[in-house]
Amino acid sequence: MNSIQTLLARRTPGHALEQAFYNDPSVFQTDLEMIHYREWLFAIPACELEKPGSYVTHKVGAYRIIIVRGVDNQIRAFHNTCRHRGSVICKASKGHAPKLVCPYHQWTYELDGSLLWARDMGADFDPKQHGLKSVHCRELAGLVYICLADEAPDFNSFADIAAPYLEPHELNNAKVAFESTIVENGNWKLVWENNRECYHCGGNHPSLCRTFPDDPTVTGISDGVTPLHLTAHFDRCEAAGLPAKFYLHSDGQFRLARMPLKEGAESFTLDGKTAVGKWLGRVPMADAGSMLKFHYPTTWNHFLSDHSIVFRVTPVSPTETEVTTKWLVHKDAVEGVDYDLKRLTEVWVATNDEDRRVVEDNQQGIDSPGYVPGPYSPVQESGVLQFVEWYCATLAERLAPTAVAAE
Ligand code: FES
Ligand SMILES: [Fe+2]
Repeated sequence: MNSIQTLLARRTPGHALEQAFYNDPSVFQTDLEMIHYREWLFAIPACELEKPGSYVTHKVGAYRIIIVRGVDNQIRAFHNTCRHRGSVICKASKGHAPKLVCPYHQWTYELDGSLLWARDMGADFDPKQHGLKSVHCRELAGLVYICLADEAPDFNSFADIAAPYLEPHELNNAKVAFESTIVENGNWKLVWENNRECYHCGGNHPSLCRTFPDDPTVTGISDGVTPLHLTAHFDRCEAAGLPAKFYLHSDGQFRLARMPLKEGAESFTLDGKTAVGKWLGRVPMADAGSMLKFHYPTTWNHFLSDHSIVFRVTPVSPTETEVTTKWLVHKDAVEGVDYDLKRLTEVWVATNDEDRRVVEDNQQGIDSPGYVPGPYSPVQESGVLQFVEWYCATLAERLAPTAVAAE
């Protein structure tokens, strides 16, 4: 195969990528090493760790991670590998434990990762040298991000800009009403490309299209001119104390914008009305639309007036991607009283399945030797192009040979 640098250099601007980017194991490994093992990754909503000792496990490429709430209420992340002979420590996807106990020889760790107990290790053994290895972990307005790199890139510039958009949704007052995990038989970049356009919505998403506008200015990337109907919506939200204006970071990694839904629509339900009686957050009007946030490479989100939905994208193999969706409602909202679970979830359960199908169809066609990368629509697919540009620029920069300083 050509080197990845060669593939990047010969890319046709404005076109989909060559086949190798979507199914080649060495490109997949490069994606992991250059992107997923280096960037901040959305992991879970903080509310999922209800109390000290609550933990979840996560797998990113070869890495296994534990995320746990400590007795001091702080959320920390560790490599899920014992400091004795390396056994995985927490095997369940989530649970509650007063201490983290390795199932092999019962080395026992505090929730802050320090080693509390290890039997018969001799007089010279220093438990302080054998605490769990940390993974960088930050909480942003109720969203937990992790970073697997030894040295994490800056998180604050993202957090400072995103926090005001997120805070009105009060995610720390939330609970997970429902979650779904599906594995799509498609490369992770196809999952993203599909997410970043609504060119496919009219033909594939009958229930989502009842409320989500088939409007490329809502899904896509503005070319600097914000249409009047969006400006009016931003102004109305900002007058109500809700940061709303379209913001795309200069490096292209994240975007924030409070976008209107279709005329009269309030939430992602079949009738367009709110799904939860007891609202999550302090958005003062039902028709504030959806605060759209994406942060490459792992998350897109919808923050609505009554509830929020967080999505996590995790590459599994060159042609498999896990998509986890969590519906967050006010922690005191009662199922059957304040909300009906089917009504709350049915639009995005259906939409995810429809997206799975189109991504899998896309992968199958790309896998054919007859595949030729075609052009993106400049009207409908500016968001896809923006994602692909971010991906290619990130990869190219990290694959570039290190400049040797002149003596
Ligand atoms: S491998 Fe964990 S206690 Fe031995
Ligand atoms: Fe879709």
